[in-house]
Amino acid sequence: MSELKTMISREQIASRVAEMGKQITADLAGQSVIFVGVLKGAAIFLSDLMRQVRLDATFDFIGVASYGNPPGPKQEKVWDSTGEVRLTKDLDHSLRDKNVVLVEDILDTGLTLTFIKRLLQGHQPKSLRVAVLLDKPSRRKMAVQADYVGFTIPDKFIVGYGLDYAEQYRNLPDICVLPDVGG
Ligand code: IMP
Ligand code: MG
Repeated sequence: MSELKTMISREQIASRVAEMGKQITADLAGQSVIFVGVLKGAAIFLSDLMRQVRLDATFDFIGVASYGNPPGPKQEKVWDSTGEVRLTKDLDHSLRDKNVVLVEDILDTGLTLTFIKRLLQGHQPKSLRVAVLLDKPSRRKMAVQADYVGFTIPDKFIVGYGLDYAEQYRNLPDICVLPDVGG
């Protein structure tokens, strides 16, 4: 584990997530909201974020995967989005006429978020906002933005606080850089 370097500490995460929660509370004052987390990476962020929101709130999860992303010897390709995103878990209920906050771990090329936003818009929600913990704008391929961004980061491969490398490291409390992987 010694190869991991902390980029953003648990204290920095907690304080930024609290600010984001306050902002969402102010923006949706007096209304109810449903948080939609993207499995699996956003699970920890969603659970912390929604507890900082003082609104009538519920949550659901959606699952997506990229095609052409098989685990295998081409380790450098493990996280690379190919543009072919498919749904692996749909929502439990319609979002029609709801205020929705889509919660994603990291905005990288933007392909995943573009796919999910289009899908959620199809539900005809009352409003749709996007909250991401991390934004790597230098890698963007699609013109998509988040309404709430925790931290803007350089092009490094990140693990911890829900984010994984080959399903490992999701339970690290800090956001860490995994050296020698991409970036
Ligand atoms: P996008 O479709 O390229 O924007 O990719 C978003 C998804 O790629 C995220 O939900 C993550 O699952 C994954 N991802 C992108 N960068 C990283 C990273 O640095 N660490 C872990 N996962 C990443
Ligand atoms: Mg993800």
